[in-house]
Amino acid sequence: MSSAQNLAYAVVQVLHNFGAVAAVGGSFAAIKIESVNVRRKLAWLVLAGWGTQALSGASFGLVSYHFYHHFPDIAGIAVAALAIKMLCAATGFLLMAAYILWGANWPKEKGSVALLSSAILAATALSAAAFLRWFS
Ligand code: HEM
Repeated sequence: MSSAQNLAYAVVQVLHNFGAVAAVGGSFAAIKIESVNVRRKLAWLVLAGWGTQALSGASFGLVSYHFYHHFPDIAGIAVAALAIKMLCAATGFLLMAAYILWGANWPKEKGSVALLSSAILAATALSAAAFLRWFS
């Protein structure tokens, strides 16, 4: 692998790692927070985290395509793990967007369910990442 390719993967991985911290950590922290205002601020962080994961995740594929002219050849468990991650990122992003847009009118319990769901999705995606890494 060339240095340029290593650098491109490393830069994408930095974004992907911080996105994971924001999505996982932000979701779990928000559940514990009582203040609705602080929850909303954390929800923005989590939204940014989910968005970063989708964009940086796709960028992994684009870097491979740029250097090899085809996408990584993965199959079986790796494909399932990737599909789970994509589903979690899409659902988590939409969930947090709904919370930010309409959550102010929701009962607090409904907001808590949304944040807990985001935390479960984030933990699922983080676990799927390990399977993608070692089955591809
Ligand atoms: C659209 C969504 C996503 C896509 C397309 C995607 C794609 C990828 C790809 C291609 C890799 C490199 C795999 C390898 O080294 O073989 C990766 C690594 C990783 N992803 Fe994602 N990802 C997505 C979402 C997420 C989410 C939501 C999380 C966590 C909340 C996450 C956490 C990680 C972690 C921690 C790694 C590093 C794994 C390791 O090297 O041990 N990803 N992802």
